[in-house]
Amino acid sequence: MHILVTGGAGYIGSHTCIELLGRGHRVTVLDNLCNSSTVSLDRVQQICGQRPAFVEADLRDRPALESLFAEAAKTGGFDAVIHFAALKAVGESVAQPLRYYENNISGSICLFEVMEKHGCRRLIFSSSATVYGLPEKLPISESESIKPTNPYGHTKSMMEQVLLDTAAAHAWNVTLLRYFNPVGAHPSGLIGEDPEFPNNLMPFVAQVAAGRRPKVTIFGDDWPTPDGTGVRDYLHVCDLAAAHVDALEKAAPGAATAIYNVGTGTGYSVKQMIAAFESACGHPVPSVIGPRRDGDVPTVVAEASLIRQRLGWEAKLGLQEMVRDAWNWQRRNPMGFKGALLD
Ligand code: NAD
Ligand code: UD1
Repeated sequence: MHILVTGGAGYIGSHTCIELLGRGHRVTVLDNLCNSSTVSLDRVQQICGQRPAFVEADLRDRPALESLFAEAAKTGGFDAVIHFAALKAVGESVAQPLRYYENNISGSICLFEVMEKHGCRRLIFSSSATVYGLPEKLPISESESIKPTNPYGHTKSMMEQVLLDTAAAHAWNVTLLRYFNPVGAHPSGLIGEDPEFPNNLMPFVAQVAAGRRPKVTIFGDDWPTPDGTGVRDYLHVCDLAAAHVDALEKAAPGAATAIYNVGTGTGYSVKQMIAAFESACGHPVPSVIGPRRDGDVPTVVAEASLIRQRLGWEAKLGLQEMVRDAWNWQRRNPMGFKGALLD
């Protein structure tokens, strides 16, 4: 299949490109590089010997999308789109809601309109466990109510609705993947998560381990969890990448919609994650207990059986591989894609 990957130069997108190319698909990446660089695509080529075609463009640039789809039509068109491109920082979305709604919603709608015009009606969408807000029941199943608590989460739940309505009206085939907490990196250490300032736990711990930051602040140790620190369902980014390609290859043919949690079903606490990282890097990772983070919840763990039953997907990689690969990426790229690659 010829797959358009929006946001394909980013963290999850670049890992998905490897999985797609590895399974023999043709890949075109569209990205405006607002949170990434083409070095990730150079590294994809280094890993799998093939480079996805790349178009630097913004999702909201309709003429650019039109010409991309028209060009692709000359060789059969895109068979499907995997839509990663979005802004994703929760705190930033609270401070700059209009920027988030404009980018994530206007951009997506522009993409979907061009897809419909060109008869490309198959899409895998990056959603998030953030759509569940404070869950009523654990583990969280796909039937849990949708009640996001911040603008970023609202952009995800709104786009889910737009896609479900579009699928119903125009016979699209849509899969919504609600990711839990993707972490880790490709085992080569050539690609990984490269935030300017890490908002999430794992990249922060990795930067502390590498000496880029002095210590990790643990956001509260008085939560109703076994050790008092927050519990999350972490999953290896390579497993997550495989889930996209499974969704693409195994989706029911024709018009259909599917919604899947993508997680492992196992939760680890902040303290457990730091301890696991210390074993991987071989030295202590300094941490202090701080106050709770606004809007945080104690435990988020997926009921992950639906995707296993329907698509045969389940996580193959465990905590040890997650921290090993996160550390290998951080160690080889202490300054991310901007710096030198170490052996
Ligand atoms: P990322 O920032 O690394 O990748 C997103 C990519 O989209 C970047 O390369 C960015 O340059 C591009 N982009 C953003 N806006 C664009 C636009 N208007 N036009 C073109 N390109 C644009 O993020 P990621 O972690 O790889 O996340 C990918 C997707 O998964 C996002 O939709 C995110 O919301 C979702 N998600 C991520 C996580 C996570 O923990 N990383 C969890 C749940 C859901
Ligand atoms: C975050 C996002 C959520 C997104 C999810 C997956 C927020 C408020 N929510 O949630 O929308 O879907 O990532 O990418 O950002 N922690 C610390 N110290 C830190 C960082 C985190 O103790 O420096 C703790 C948190 O309190 C939490 C756990 O580590 O208990 C994981 O945090 P994080 O990586 O930010 O993920 P989520 O809270 O699940």
